[in-house]
Amino acid sequence: MKIVSAGKARIRELRKKKKDKIRNDLEAYGSEILNSDEMREAFGQTHHTRSTVGEHTQRVAEKSLAICYALDRLHIRTDIPAVVTGSLCHDLGILGRDEKYESERECYRHHPVDSLEVARKLVDILPDKTRDIIEHHMWPTAGSKAPGSLEGIIVSAADKAAAVEDFIRGSKVKPADLKTTVRTIAERSSLSWKKKK
Ligand SMILES: [Fe+2]
Ligand SMILES: [Fe+2]
Repeated sequence: MKIVSAGKARIRELRKKKKDKIRNDLEAYGSEILNSDEMREAFGQTHHTRSTVGEHTQRVAEKSLAICYALDRLHIRTDIPAVVTGSLCHDLGILGRDEKYESERECYRHHPVDSLEVARKLVDILPDKTRDIIEHHMWPTAGSKAPGSLEGIIVSAADKAAAVEDFIRGSKVKPADLKTTVRTIAERSSLSWKKKK
């Protein structure tokens, strides 16, 4: 029994260490983005039916960093600042979706370019890897080209895993708005969704 509880304590300790490391990296390289009006707005816009753009973003950033730390243990180095800025900005272009895009298809294809524009506004000098992450994060969906960097592949993978979690676990901040959820499900069931005029 003692060995089991010592093992559990060790797992708890490692989890806390990883959480702290993630928080430190997010604060060190992403504080301007985290404190921006856009990020505040992101927590008010529904995303993936049951979550918000903000919480999805948080999940993507956390998962991306967890992958980077795992790779680091295999002596595969990654660009942590680029992963932080890229993952935090990757979907900010989707804000105001209903007013901006005529269809879900248009939203899928164009929001990476719009996210890049938001990132240029929030980050002084946008490194190539950050640009690559944002531009190609929809890969392998939405006709997106594959990322040209390991960091881009990491964030694309984390994005898909986070999307599944958004659908399953939903929002932790506030209960999902039932009306919006029902509407989104109805819209998704139609192949040619069009914005209501
Ligand atoms: Fe996206
Ligand atoms: Fe995303």
